[in-house]
Amino acid sequence: MTSRSFVAGVLAVVASISVAAAQQLNRSALPADASPRLADIMEAIQARHIKLWFAGKNHNWDLAAYEAAQIRARLEDAARFYQDLPVTEVTTMGAPLDALSEAVKAKDTTKFASAFDQLTAGCNSCHQSIERSFIAIQTPTAQPFSNQSFAPAKK
Ligand code: HEC
Repeated sequence: MTSRSFVAGVLAVVASISVAAAQQLNRSALPADASPRLADIMEAIQARHIKLWFAGKNHNWDLAAYEAAQIRARLEDAARFYQDLPVTEVTTMGAPLDALSEAVKAKDTTKFASAFDQLTAGCNSCHQSIERSFIAIQTPTAQPFSNQSFAPAKK
């Protein structure tokens, strides 16, 4: 698989989260006690949020596309397992994720940074709407994953 078709594949997965899709996800396939804890899903999202930022900063656009797709998939999991989550707070995450995909496709660092800000605002909007304003997400200041290189792969 060429890296171009890989990026195309990842971007295809990063299709919009529609209201219909999020509502459909409310029917959980697993028994409630087998569901991952919401805080654990969120921790996974938090790690991807950091990785996404440093992937973009390092112009590793393939990795950035991958991390954005991971965030979208984990948000879909959260909506599927936790039906009390406000659906609109999930679906509004579609717009910043789409903007991120566009920025990644265009390899545009300015657009990337602004889409990333929108994404972070979306995280906090949901946290505030469900009385979790004490969980305040911000642009990462340091890269804690010293066991992973964020440099673009040599082609
Ligand atoms: C649709 C709502 C919603 C969205 C969107 C959302 N979260 Fe959350 N998040 C929650 C809820 C609810 C909790 C609290 C879970 C609990 O208390 O069990 C939470 C908790 C967290 C936590 C605390 C976990 C811990 O153990 O410290 C982190 C970190 C977090 N979210 C990160 C993010 C990031 C980063 C984003 C955006 C990329 C995001 N969240 C988007 C609903 C959301």
